[in-house]
Order: sequence, then C-alpha cells, then structure tokens
Amino acid sequence: MGALDDAADAERDGYDDLQMSYHAVQPNRWTFRSDKIRRWVEERLQGRVLNACAGRTKLVHDGEIVRNDIDEDRDADLHVDVCEIGDELEAGSFDTVVYDPPFSQYQSNRSYEGREVGDDALAKRQFDDLLAPGGRFIQFGFTTTGMPMSLGYERREVAVFNTLGRMNDYLAVVDEKPGESAAEPRWFK
Ligand SMILES: C[S@@+](CC[C@H](N)C(=O)[O-])C[C@H]1O[C@@H](n2cnc3c(N)ncnc32)[C@H](O)[C@@H]1O
Repeated sequence: MGALDDAADAERDGYDDLQMSYHAVQPNRWTFRSDKIRRWVEERLQGRVLNACAGRTKLVHDGEIVRNDIDEDRDADLHVDVCEIGDELEAGSFDTVVYDPPFSQYQSNRSYEGREVGDDALAKRQFDDLLAPGGRFIQFGFTTTGMPMSLGYERREVAVFNTLGRMNDYLAVVDEKPGESAAEPRWFK
C-alpha cells in the first residue's frame, strides 16, 4: 500500500505493560561502548545469549554468550551471515538474542566496510528458530519493527537513545517469544 492510500492501523493487543524509557547517550560505531547502552542491554540478558552482530564490545553476563560477527577480524565464536546462522546452531537453544546490525546502508559503508544484513526478515526467521519458548529478542536500530507480529511475539519494552544530535537517535526493543521460559527470570530494574 502506498503512503497516499487509505490508512490501516494494525491491532496489537497485550501492550498494557509496555515499558518505555529515554536516555541521552554519545555512542560511537561500537554501540555498546556507551556505558548507558551496555548496562541497559546487560540488565536484560537472560540464560544463554546469542550476540548475533557482536562487533567489538564484550557484554558481561552470568551465563554463556555466543558471539557471532560476519567480519573475520572481530573476536567471535562464529563468523557467519546472520541470514544463515540457523544452520550453525541448535534450534531452541538460546534464551536471549541480541541483534545490533548496521542500521543503514550508509552506516554499513561508513563503519563496517559495506557489511550488512541483506534480508532482515530472513535473519529474524533464524532468530525465531534459535530462541527457546519465552526467549527474549533485543534489537537496536532506527526502527521499532522487532520480531514479526505473525510469530506471536509480545512487545515488552521500547527505549529511545537520544544521541544529542550526533546522528539519528537509536531505538531499541525487547520482544518476548510466546511460551514459558526455562531461564532464570530476570526482568527490568
Ligand atoms: C553496529 S555493529 C555492532 C556493534 C556491537 N554491538 C558493539 O557494541 O561492539 C554491527 C556489526 O554487524 C556486523 N555485521 C554486518 N553484517 C552482518 C551479517 N550479515 N551477519 C553478521 N554480522 C554482520 C558488522 O561486521 C559489525 O561488526
């Protein structure tokens, strides 16, 4: 549908508990080098974690973190395209997926030697396969799209990271997969 056609808002139920927060930050291209952003992410990790576009920053967590980055120069356990990552890891074996890809083609060219995620929907299908029931999907970007509604995820949180005019603001979402999580529950402080 084009922008000038009839509007058709989607019904999204179950958002009564949606948490929203606002933070002023000054990140560089390694998003989690910002102390405020890194702490925000670390507080939301539960169980076994996949850091799917790990970059340079190492997150601290009391469970296992599997790091992936397509760039062979990054210190990571795996170097695969997120669109194919489901072939490398066991389905349903993660309690949290952190997804901080290049936010745009411009960012990709400027900061990550043109490396990018070619098919965001395909990447998200991989993450859905890898997440256990009740698993948590944490995404950074210029959008709050998150996991597809059709997969039944529930939006738990939206955060705005105001970069104080240095670049577009960063948005982050936490979406929860349907089902009961076996991971030790840890929710927002
Ligand atoms: C925004 S940076 C991640 C920064 C990281 N969170 C940090 O704080 O250090 C994006 C990363 O995604 C990686 N990347 C780009 N395309 C990818 C793909 N298709 N699959 C996996 N990693 C990819 C880049 O190499 C880059 O390191």
